[in-house]
Amino acid sequence: MKKAGIIGHPVSHSLSPLLHEYWIKKYGLKAEYLYLDTEEENLGNRIGELRTSGFVGANITVPYKEKVMKHLDEISDEAKKIGAVNTILVKEGRLFGINTDTEGFLENIRETIPGFSFERRRAVILGAGGAARAVIYSLLKEGAGEIWLVNRTKEKAEMLAQEFGNNIHVETWGRLNKTLGGADILINTTSLGMKGKGKLEIDISPLPKKSIVYDIVYNPLETELLKQAKFQGNKVVDGLGMLLYQAVPAFHLWFGIKPKVTGELRKLIASRV
Ligand code: ATR
Repeated sequence: MKKAGIIGHPVSHSLSPLLHEYWIKKYGLKAEYLYLDTEEENLGNRIGELRTSGFVGANITVPYKEKVMKHLDEISDEAKKIGAVNTILVKEGRLFGINTDTEGFLENIRETIPGFSFERRRAVILGAGGAARAVIYSLLKEGAGEIWLVNRTKEKAEMLAQEFGNNIHVETWGRLNKTLGGADILINTTSLGMKGKGKLEIDISPLPKKSIVYDIVYNPLETELLKQAKFQGNKVVDGLGMLLYQAVPAFHLWFGIKPKVTGELRKLIASRV
């Protein structure tokens, strides 16, 4: 029996077990995907077990995406640059750390808006945390023309802009409308708008009608931001697809099958959000 699982603390809220178990069943694999709730002092041991106990790999979630790195043998350039590992692959007793959020983010928009390309596009990103790093990486990889970072704490955005290079500009939260006027896409990477978190109170009316609004928050599925965007005629991309698509490369690497994200799976996961 092949094993994989999710390592974090807590992990009981995670949708990854449901998602991977769905595919395991669908493709008739002899495998299981476990909840691996791990206290910080046991993280090293837990990662060590991956080498010795029949694991093909694991997902890593909060609060260990960065802390896990020192326990691994190799880390992909992408995960290094993003500063987070969300997936481990065990291969011949060695542990490889990768980050599949980039692929999740990009595949979600490709599937939702066929033909969309970031090439030379102008993007506005709200937030400057871990999720923003994965999004910036994705956009640069796809040849985005100009990226504007807007964050409550401007210094954090400035640090990211310095680290990621030339095409990145910073604007204050108060002057968001100025950047929206010429934006091809607006992406929310903050937790604002999520159930139980603060409201994302912005006015997106300056956004051109042809622009896209992408919210990585998936709880609720239709955030206030997406509602507002739909109402004024913008195309929208919700965050659930990112969760689903980031799991595809992990499953593929572990079990050798590239699983499909279907409407049925989306419905199943959406019902548990
Ligand atoms: P993640 O790793 O999921 O991106 P994070 O690193 O905690 O999470 O980042 C959360 C982002 O949401 C940050 O950009 C944060 O802004 P600050 O850098 O100013 O902290 C943003 N955020 C969280 N709560 C916010 C709020 N009430 N108002 C504005 N921005 C908020």
